[in-house]
Amino acid sequence: MRNVVVVGSQWGDEGKGKIVDWLSSEADVVVRFQGGHNAGHTLVIDKKVFKLRLLPSGIVRKGKISILGNGVVIDPWALLEEITEIKKQGINVTPENFMISESSSLILPFHQEMDEIREDAAGKGKIGTTRRGIGPCYEDKVGRRSIRVMDLRSSTNLEKRLENVLLHHNAVRKGLKKKIFKKDELKRKLLKIAPDILKFAKPVWLKLDEFKRDRKKILFEGAQGILLDVDHGTYPYVTSSNTVPATAATGSGSGPDKIGYILGITKAYTTRVGSGPFPTELKDKIGESLGKRGKEFGTVTSRKRRCGWFDGVLVRQTIKISGIHGIALTKLDVLDELEEIKICVQYDLNGKKIDYLPAASEDQFNIKPIYKTFPGWMTKTQGVRNINDLPENAKKYIYALEDFIGAKISSISTSPERDDTILIEDPFKN
Ligand code: GDP
Ligand code: IMO
Ligand code: MG
Repeated sequence: MRNVVVVGSQWGDEGKGKIVDWLSSEADVVVRFQGGHNAGHTLVIDKKVFKLRLLPSGIVRKGKISILGNGVVIDPWALLEEITEIKKQGINVTPENFMISESSSLILPFHQEMDEIREDAAGKGKIGTTRRGIGPCYEDKVGRRSIRVMDLRSSTNLEKRLENVLLHHNAVRKGLKKKIFKKDELKRKLLKIAPDILKFAKPVWLKLDEFKRDRKKILFEGAQGILLDVDHGTYPYVTSSNTVPATAATGSGSGPDKIGYILGITKAYTTRVGSGPFPTELKDKIGESLGKRGKEFGTVTSRKRRCGWFDGVLVRQTIKISGIHGIALTKLDVLDELEEIKICVQYDLNGKKIDYLPAASEDQFNIKPIYKTFPGWMTKTQGVRNINDLPENAKKYIYALEDFIGAKISSISTSPERDDTILIEDPFKN
């Protein structure tokens, strides 16, 4: 038995939530380690839909412990709202089954405003962020001025920390001709919700160490995807955290040796929300139909996701960068009606063939995909739970994909429902 880390291998929305929920039947503890409420993870259990943003996807199962590690940025109001919403759906969230790191940085209203101000000012050059204040909050974290969960414990300390962070923000706001941000009102609001937040606050690293000693199985749940990683993604069109599985260690306070098996969640085609290069994007009827069949609308912002063919070059690259051991292939059923299906196997950059994504953004925008075409299966795979029940052409597509990207496909998802999943190799056991 070992621990498992789940990460998205593309630009997010690969179906991580569904797979984490499915796998959490085997886990004792589910830990988020980066990102914030820019994430949107949808679970469907017996037709009941749960939409999670900050809460780990293990929260819906009884008897599991869900954790937000130090690497997660927490908007305290968004967290409390999400807890209220999920409680209305009959899910229990208590200090016994949910904890947050004392060291997590808080997303505050001026972070969200700064995200908006910058996006609005950037015009066509905007990143297309979720406007949740994620980037500005991580900037304050590495700038050593963020307000952390533990700062809510003391009014005097909170006052000092707020003065410090607002010194920076108000200087920037003045420069941008925006109203200065008042400390007292924010302090009052924070102290009001402090007890509701602090009741979940724990030294997460210590708890994780206890769990490890008790031989509990830990499932680390990544948000976003490797192509949105601030170092390895399509910079600057990325999020502001490291989304690679190595972050599971730093973002939770456990040693890298506790990571275990790395499961990459991979959509059978490609989607992206927001701006940035997308070599295999389809701006035609096929792209439209993928979006329609795959219900490709953002969980967080309801934005239409851009759709395109599977990019084998990109996924092969993210597997290497992040050390993915196996793949959970999702949304195979979305391809059910296509006559032909394509996989990008190389790029053309100004007449030169290349086998990886070039680092420069302008080159990433310029490359043209070179495709290999496969016949479709034109049969329903939706809801299939056994590999032997898949049509031959679907199997051929899966094996070709596996061969090209160089990682074992260890499970296949065929609908949003928890149990419409084919298990090939158990990540906790192999
Ligand atoms: P995440 O951010 O990686 O957790 O993914 P999202 O939840 O944002 O987006 C994935 C969407 O696809 C959700 O609406 C899921 O319910 C849905 N989904 C997951 N797996 C499958 C699948 O195998 N087939 C279909 N049709 N939908 C799926
Ligand atoms: P899940 O966990 C897809 C994208 C945004 C934008 C960029 C930066 O559901 O897969 P940010 O608000 O993080 O500063 O935005 O990253 N983005 C996501 N795209 N899925 C996500 O999360 C995303 N989280 C952020 O659209 O392009
Ligand atoms: Mg999502």
